[in-house]
Amino acid sequence: MSEYLEFDPSEIEPREVYRLLTGAVVPRPIGWASTVNKDGQTNLAPFSFFTVVCVIPPMISLTIARNPDGTEKHTLKNIKEMGDFCFNVVTEPVWQEMVDSANAIPEGDSEFEDTGLTPIPAVKVNSPRVKEVPIHFECKLHQVIELGPRNHPLVIGEVVHFHVDPACMTNGYIDMKKLAPIGRLNGFFYSTLGDILEREFVDGQPR
Ligand SMILES: Cc1cc2nc3c(=O)[nH]c(=O)nc-3n(C[C@H](O)[C@H](O)[C@H](O)COP(=O)(O)O)c2cc1C
Repeated sequence: MSEYLEFDPSEIEPREVYRLLTGAVVPRPIGWASTVNKDGQTNLAPFSFFTVVCVIPPMISLTIARNPDGTEKHTLKNIKEMGDFCFNVVTEPVWQEMVDSANAIPEGDSEFEDTGLTPIPAVKVNSPRVKEVPIHFECKLHQVIELGPRNHPLVIGEVVHFHVDPACMTNGYIDMKKLAPIGRLNGFFYSTLGDILEREFVDGQPR
């Protein structure tokens, strides 16, 4: 018989709450966000508090925590300033560059230069896209919702354009094996796909 450990989030340290959230909600997709500011300086950073939130219209969300001193991260500043961002899928060949793009660097410097990745123009937004990955979503800022006493910003973007390299598709579907996405676990750990399982549910929606 197992005995569970019990935690009341209001009674434990935020660090412990973070460990529970990031250890149990796994693997998390990574919202690799590219942005630009009004001076044309590009920025790239990963966010694993990331998901799809709506289909019509298509929307995705990123939770961009404040810096410990309460200031906004460059990605959030740029999204508010320019009103848009691009989401880039993280794939196996560039996962280490993705991690390096999280390093805190001065505001005027670009993670594109730091990592050697190539910014390419978007079609409908100001933000650049990462050339080295096969899928980009161009997003316009829909809403920033500030959560909790620390005004934790949840950013919702509407996808206004999808770019998909046909090399990662089979019969009209995005092919997971060809895409080779990377997920975030807890700590400094990441995951590749591993085994892919398939089972329909009774009222299964067509894919
Ligand atoms: C894989 C990964 C996932 C991350 N997820 C988040 C996240 O969900 N929210 C967040 O605020 N920071 C997250 N970070 C940290 C940011 O990427 C980091 O603070 C970055 O420097 C922010 O860059 P910016 O100031 O250029 O926006 C993550 C880092 C890594 C490596």
